[in-house]
Amino acid sequence: MNYNKKTILDVDVKGKKVLLRCDFNVPQDKETGAITSDKRIVAALPTIRYLLENGADVIACSHLGKPKGEWKTKLSLAPVAKRLSELLGQEVVFASDVIGPDAQAKAKALKGGEIMLLENLRFHIEEEKNDPTFAKKLSDMAELYVSDAFGTVHRAHASTAGIAAYLPAVSGFLVAKELEIMGGALENPKRPFVAVLGGAKISDKLGVINNLLDKADTIIIGGGMAYTFAKAQGGSIGKSLCEEDRLTYALDMIAKAREKGVKLLLPIDTVAAKEFSADATPVVVNTSAIPGDMEGLDIGPKTVELFCSAVKGAGTVVWNGPMGVFEFPAFAKGTKAMAQALADSGAVTIVGGGDSAAAVEQMGFADKITHISTGGGASLEFLEGRELPGVACLQDK
Ligand code: 3PG
Repeated sequence: MNYNKKTILDVDVKGKKVLLRCDFNVPQDKETGAITSDKRIVAALPTIRYLLENGADVIACSHLGKPKGEWKTKLSLAPVAKRLSELLGQEVVFASDVIGPDAQAKAKALKGGEIMLLENLRFHIEEEKNDPTFAKKLSDMAELYVSDAFGTVHRAHASTAGIAAYLPAVSGFLVAKELEIMGGALENPKRPFVAVLGGAKISDKLGVINNLLDKADTIIIGGGMAYTFAKAQGGSIGKSLCEEDRLTYALDMIAKAREKGVKLLLPIDTVAAKEFSADATPVVVNTSAIPGDMEGLDIGPKTVELFCSAVKGAGTVVWNGPMGVFEFPAFAKGTKAMAQALADSGAVTIVGGGDSAAAVEQMGFADKITHISTGGGASLEFLEGRELPGVACLQDK
């Protein structure tokens, strides 16, 4: 996949109406609908500011949640327009529809250096269906398409992929940075290249493990998915998470790693407990001998040492998925130690995936990491080496 795509710096934006696809899929309070983190809005600001300062009009658009073609007040982007306007210090005109008369009239009225936000794209079912008529209608309001919604580039939707059939398509700064850093790590990593994978399920990471076996020097596996590996190798894992239908896969991966000369590191000890609860008593046991009435909730101290020493000498580290149930302080030590190891490593460090990114931020290591991806699903598919429709559709340099 070619990651060398044109950006807004490669085209003339002055006097142009720019359809800017953002990922304003922000977390909201379930009761009040209030935005609980504006990180994704903040991440879009450099591109928006550049476009406005260089004389373009911005027609920003995004999805929010999964309304599946229904108009749901709770999923309106109006609060995002308000927050964006506060952050920019400039009015953000809000359209009460997406391709309807309000959006069209407001887009037409923009006078250079102005910004508007369309209502939630997914209020139209045509968005997720990548409907060409819908994409064409969106494109009719603008003269240039800019993708800055990295979190959504794995979706082949009208506003992320189909649109490029009707407008010249380039990336904004956020997408460009993700492509440069993550693309660089996958194509030409500073070695040793260490991949740290965690999270609950192997099935979410099948493609990632496969792809990284061809690229990484060391693959570290922690989190819930490590127990399937332990059981596949004949261990007793008590009540720990296990994907019975992936036992053979786990053995195949161990064999494949050996064949390719990739070091595959698995936990040797585990912090287990009798219940899945914040106040459960943590007990350190061997990963291959977890008592029948216990489940593994974090990597143990010897494993922390093993994993962290592999990260220490790395040139590049990619991390996706926590090492344990870090939401419970008693079982957060493994994830915290990993975050610390990345922060101290001096390597190019990339954290992708919603949970590991949240852990790094929560634990205060964010500013010591080279790059925290803004994409959850998108960064996983990136690591799988899959073609991303929202990247493939952009003009090559
Ligand atoms: C995300 O939150 O990961 C992106 O905005 C994509 O959202 P989606 O999974 O609803 O397509």
